[in-house]
Amino acid sequence: MKKTNTVNKRIRNRKPSITVVKNGPYIVRDLKNFRDSEERPLPVQPVMSLCRCGASRNKPYCDGSHTEIGFVGEKDPHRAPGKINEWKGKNITIVDNTNVCSRDGSCVNNLPQVFEEENPDAVNVKRIIETIKKCPSGALTYKMGGRHCQAFKREPAITVARNGPFKVVGAIRLKDEMKSEPACPEHYTLCRCGHSRNKPFCDGSHHEIGFKDDAEAGR
Ligand code: FES
Repeated sequence: MKKTNTVNKRIRNRKPSITVVKNGPYIVRDLKNFRDSEERPLPVQPVMSLCRCGASRNKPYCDGSHTEIGFVGEKDPHRAPGKINEWKGKNITIVDNTNVCSRDGSCVNNLPQVFEEENPDAVNVKRIIETIKKCPSGALTYKMGGRHCQAFKREPAITVARNGPFKVVGAIRLKDEMKSEPACPEHYTLCRCGHSRNKPFCDGSHHEIGFKDDAEAGR
């Protein structure tokens, strides 16, 4: 009995992971916290497949449609390279890595005087840090006191953004056959519309193509 309890405990405590299958779905293991854009819990299985081609009729889960549409899950070799900008203020330096930006817009919507004007002195540092923590893709980080702060501590979770990417937090390990690594291992956004030029990461292309949760893209 004791042995069974120990095994059950070990299963409960397993850390979640995401495997990016070449030209296929995300295989998610041992995730406990999966939710929709309204923070409502979604059903989980110890191992589940999530759609990344955008064509599943059962989003956010995979229904095998990637095979039918001939989905190619690679980065676009001709995508324009991004850059890393640093905006230096008196008390904080904002680091903006455009390579992984998912164009979520929370930064410019919350603090346009900082993020549109590129002015880290426009408001107090606490408000800037709060806004940076809302950046789901890891594009925004900051430097303070000689440290580059990018590892926020949160419980592992995946949120399905409405008509947008999977938002991953809590340092869920990403295993990708093509060796993609998140800019911030604690949080990143994964494409689920199938059109990112920077797969598996979201690059905001879902806005351009008008990706809809209830549509079956590519059909
Ligand atoms: S979900 Fe595909 S680019 Fe954002």
